Amino acid sequence: MSAPQILRSEDVLEKYGKSLAGKTVLITGVSEQSIAGELAIQLAAADPKLLILSARKESNVAPIAEKIKNSKPNVETRFLNIDLSDLSNIRQAVKEGLADVPKIDHVVFVAGVMICPYGKTKDGFEMQLGVNYLANFLLVKLLLPKIQAAGPGSSIIITSSGVMRQGKVNFEDIGFSDGKTYEPWTAYSQSNAARTMFAKRLGEKLKSQGIRVFSIDPGSVKTGLQRHSPPGFFDMVEEWKKAGPLVDADGNKFLIQPWTTQSEGAATMITGMIDPTISADDNGSYLCQNAVAKDHMHSHVRDEQNISRLWKISEEMIQEKYDL
Ligand SMILES: NC(=O)c1ccc[n+]([C@@H]2O[C@H](COP(=O)([O-])OP(=O)(O)OC[C@H]3O[C@@H](n4cnc5c(N)ncnc54)[C@H](OP(=O)(O)O)[C@@H]3O)[C@@H](O)[C@H]2O)c1
Repeated sequence: MSAPQILRSEDVLEKYGKSLAGKTVLITGVSEQSIAGELAIQLAAADPKLLILSARKESNVAPIAEKIKNSKPNVETRFLNIDLSDLSNIRQAVKEGLADVPKIDHVVFVAGVMICPYGKTKDGFEMQLGVNYLANFLLVKLLLPKIQAAGPGSSIIITSSGVMRQGKVNFEDIGFSDGKTYEPWTAYSQSNAARTMFAKRLGEKLKSQGIRVFSIDPGSVKTGLQRHSPPGFFDMVEEWKKAGPLVDADGNKFLIQPWTTQSEGAATMITGMIDPTISADDNGSYLCQNAVAKDHMHSHVRDEQNISRLWKISEEMIQEKYDL
């Protein structure tokens, strides 16, 4: 495993992309503006058999599917309509939209929302937790038989964020007292802490089956994600950088990531999917800049009791139990 470095998707694919030929990959959050859209275009270059492109609007996926059709007509694409803020819609999408897909080699969860005004999912959960984390918790459970059918070397990649470093799951008030105590950044960091905690336990559970699981930080990329940011947000980030390092949940200093291209944002996802130099012992880790970043996971997200507690309440929220 190499040292942390910002790479382009093309660099990672040049080294390891051959292993993607003929594979089936499912990506959430696909749109023209999103990292997931770029990821789909990048992966198409490696000749997968089928790219399942998920979004809640077909118009998000159509321009990406069109580009792939023009550049790689041999690569099949399919739109999978899922609204991640609705658990029954997720169940229906998997049941009906993927009934004829027996195996999925790689699943990359990229969809997400950042610092939106307070809102609830259809099932009554705080929106950022529901879309960024809980939807993935249910989707992994539903997709696992298809990923297991793909066998060793398949992967589950859960996009997280550098904001995870300041995030904790507030077990006493995970829903912000029905919005009364809502703070958008705290909710975004909570949802990313949950994503990374989930990946850690899932990776440990699936290690013996050779299924790769990582949560990843794509770095800082200008995308649709900043749509809820206040005016002047990008200038504000530059001011934060000038003010010096941030402090993580354990009081350790860290730097905000530099802005990168979409291709660089997608690269760490591809590293998680296929870089064979990552040790199986690191399954479940958090990756940043194409490398395992153990020191980015603070004590709250590493804590086994917190992770077990999160798993248990997540099963209660989706009203289904994992058989793992
Ligand atoms: N960009 C960054 O700097 C950065 C940094 C760290 C982490 N991340 C993470 O990277 C991921 C990708 O973000 P991005 O930067 O590519 O942002 P983006 O352009 O906003 O893409 C996110 C996608 O998620 C979709 N989405 C939101 N709510 C959904 C729902 N309820 N159901 C289905 N799809 C939904 C959006 O589709 P709609 O158009 O339908 O809303 C959008 O296409 C996110 O999970 C984010 O937390 C990004």
